[in-house]
Amino acid sequence: MSVTDQKSVAVIVGGGAIARALAEQLADDPGLSVYLLSRSELELSNVHTLETDYSDASLACIVAQIEAAGLPLSRLVVTNGMLSNDAIRPERKVSDLSEEAFGMIMSVNALLPMRSLAAFWSLIRKSGAPRVAVLSARVGSVGDNELGGWYSYRASKAALNMMMKCAAIEIRRLNKRAKLVAYHPGTVDSPLSKPFQRSVPEGNLFTPEFSAAKLIDILDSAESDGELVYVDWAGESIPW
Ligand SMILES: NC(=O)c1ccc[n+]([C@@H]2O[C@H](COP(=O)([O-])OP(=O)(O)OC[C@H]3O[C@@H](n4cnc5c(N)ncnc54)[C@H](OP(=O)(O)O)[C@@H]3O)[C@@H](O)[C@H]2O)c1
Repeated sequence: MSVTDQKSVAVIVGGGAIARALAEQLADDPGLSVYLLSRSELELSNVHTLETDYSDASLACIVAQIEAAGLPLSRLVVTNGMLSNDAIRPERKVSDLSEEAFGMIMSVNALLPMRSLAAFWSLIRKSGAPRVAVLSARVGSVGDNELGGWYSYRASKAALNMMMKCAAIEIRRLNKRAKLVAYHPGTVDSPLSKPFQRSVPEGNLFTPEFSAAKLIDILDSAESDGELVYVDWAGESIPW
């Protein structure tokens, strides 16, 4: 069944494991026209996949294309995030910090999601009750940090949460039926978590499909109240 009476648009930014599971599940809803943006060329059934380099110009071009369909935006989920790559390892101690790695992690995990929001801002403003989620992480919680380490990744998700709070305050004045969600998907089997899965207790590694379904439930049942929530896959609030 459709999430709105009228046909509407759902946009997933990023084409990783959780993003693809989200797009595929949302595409089962005949009331939704689903778009997925990625640096890679992807093919998913019943999903409009669009290649992007995430530059402001490319995002603007894509938004114009989506807006041309004349449909309201009911779901926007920004999934981009990185924890490591061939050159970057999450820091174990303060002396591991590097300006270059910190800049890269911040740019992908905090700034890119907010630039994506900015690109879709006019659609968020004028759509009925848009639900906008970013893939945050529990390790972005200052209050919940018992283990330390992962300085840049933790800082990037905390920064993302703070900017989402600012965006909630801003959108409330413009569209008080919007809802913002900073989502912790659990530990999910994906390329991002692959190098770190050894320490995950048995039974605690979710499939992307499970975590995506939980986010869809949270978005479907969220109150249209202009507020931001920071919640995990079970819908439980996480301390800031
Ligand atoms: N997996 C977990 O256990 C876990 C736990 C907590 C939070 N999260 C968060 O969940 C989100 C999705 O992660 P995932 O598990 O689905 O991982 P994934 O399969 O590795 O997907 C990573 C995503 O980040 C994007 N990305 C990576 N590097 C990028 C770069 N340099 N520039 C732009 N985009 C980049 C990719 O976009 P392209 O398609 O354009 O390449 C892709 O959408 C991330 O934000 C992650 O921090 C994951």
